Amino acid sequence: MRVDIITVLPELLESPFSHSMMKRAKDRGLLEIYTHNLRDHTPYKQGQVDDYQFGGGAGMVMMPEPLAILLDKLKEDRAYDEVIYMTPDGPLFTQKTANTLSLRENIIIICGHYKGIDDRIRQHYVTMEISIGDYVLSGGELAAAVVVDSVGRLLPGVLNDETSALFDSFQDGLLAPPVYTRPADFRGWKIPDILLCGDPKKIDDWRYEQSVKRTKERRPGLMD
Ligand code: ADE
Repeated sequence: MRVDIITVLPELLESPFSHSMMKRAKDRGLLEIYTHNLRDHTPYKQGQVDDYQFGGGAGMVMMPEPLAILLDKLKEDRAYDEVIYMTPDGPLFTQKTANTLSLRENIIIICGHYKGIDDRIRQHYVTMEISIGDYVLSGGELAAAVVVDSVGRLLPGVLNDETSALFDSFQDGLLAPPVYTRPADFRGWKIPDILLCGDPKKIDDWRYEQSVKRTKERRPGLMD
């Protein structure tokens, strides 16, 4: 999978993709991530990429031209399955969206800043919008990192059996069950006996029950 990220702060995106699973995905050639500094593509002086909004009001808006120039350039070189705009007013990101995106080959992610991007880019280029939650970040970069991380780990070959995504929270519409490791007795706090019974079927049933219980208690909306 290839991900092209358009940003005014490429430095913000260096660390999230240089460790752990994302590093492994890149090292194995399963995930390619290219960050593009929008300022390198603006026709305006001094790397200008934003301007005052028409109609007045506080806050700058990202100009359409630098974005269009860069988007056209990228699209000339290959076909993209989605042009995604990270924005708090988009549909909420879920595991289902991550699963869907993990099947795509090439995607572009636009990180907004200031008041956001000129709406004509949303109308004419953007095919999908994503919000990672009902709160406002100072830019789309951290949100883009969240999306790429959750999608990247689903790519075949990134996770091994031990870290398989099949048992993640949300993957089957339920939260994950509680997990325990050694010691079995820590300060007198004991793990559930069933986990030591040695019967995989019984343990699986218990885990499923715990998942249902947790989901009902914590996120009843997921059960609908
Ligand atoms: N940009 C700013 N806030 C955001 C959010 N919550 N989700 C996605 N992109 C954003």
